[in-house]
Amino acid sequence: MKIVMLGAPGAGKGTQAIKIAEKYGLPHISTGDIFRYNIKNNTELGLKAKEYMDKGQLVPDELTVSILLDRVAKDDCAKGYILDGYPRTIPQAEVLEEALKKLGENIDFAVNVVVPDENIIERMSGRRTCPNCGETYHIIYNNTKAEGICDKCSGDLIQRPDDMPETVKKRLEVYHAQTKPLEEFYRSRNVYKEVDGTKAMNEVFEDICKILG
Ligand code: AP5
Ligand code: ZN
Repeated sequence: MKIVMLGAPGAGKGTQAIKIAEKYGLPHISTGDIFRYNIKNNTELGLKAKEYMDKGQLVPDELTVSILLDRVAKDDCAKGYILDGYPRTIPQAEVLEEALKKLGENIDFAVNVVVPDENIIERMSGRRTCPNCGETYHIIYNNTKAEGICDKCSGDLIQRPDDMPETVKKRLEVYHAQTKPLEEFYRSRNVYKEVDGTKAMNEVFEDICKILG
C-alpha cells in the first residue's frame, strides 16, 4: 500500500504517518526529516536545503525529487510506504507517478489532514521535536510531562527553527500556492481522501484507519 499524506504545515501529517507506519508495518518517509538529518550532519545537501527551509520556502525540485526516488527504490519499500511531505508540488507528483507507472504501480491513497490556518500557528508554536530520534511533542496536546526531554531516547527537545511565527506564515503561503493544487491532482486519480485534522490525535488516526481498511 502506497500512501501520500497531504495537509498544511503542522496539520499533523507526521504524527499520523508514524502511527500508520507502526500499524501497517510500512516505512515512513519524510523528506523534511531527510533534509533535517542532512543539516544536522553538515552534508552538502543539508547546507543547500537549510538555505530554503529557514526562510519557509520549498527546497527546489531538482534536489528533492532524486532523493525521494532513491529512497522509495530501497528494499524496505517493496510492500509500500507512507510519504509525508512529498509531493509538495505538481511536478514532484508527476515525477513520482511516472516512476511508479514504469513499475505498473500507483499511489493507493492520498490522505489530506485538513486543519484551518487559524489552528496551525498554535500547533507549530507548541511543537517540540527530538533531533536525535525525530519524535514530535506538543506542550499542550501531546505529552506535557516531557519537560524538554524525549521519552524515547532521552534527547533534549528543541523548537524547530522554521516554527517561528513569521516563518510559519511564509510556509502557509507557500502551501496554498504550491501544494494545495495536489488535492485536485489526486482527486482526478480517484485516490483523494479527507480527514478532519482538528479532532484529537487518536480520533484522526481512527478516521484514517477506516479509510485504509
Ligand atoms: P516538513 O518537515 O515536511 O514540514 P511540514 O510539511 O511543514 O510539516 P510539519 O512537519 O511542520 O507538520 P506536520 O503536518 O507533520 O505536523 P506534526 O505531526 O508535526 O518540511 C519542512 C521544510 O522542508 C519545508 O518547509 C521545505 O522547506 C522542506 N521540504 C520538505 N519536503 C519537501 C519537498 N517535498 N519539496 C520541497 N521542500 C521540502 O504536528 C504539528 C504539531 O501539532 C505537533 O506538535 C503535534 O504534536 C501537534 N498535533 C498533531 N496532531 C494534533 C491533533 N490532532 N491535535 C492537537 N495537536 C496535534
Ligand atoms: Zn528522541
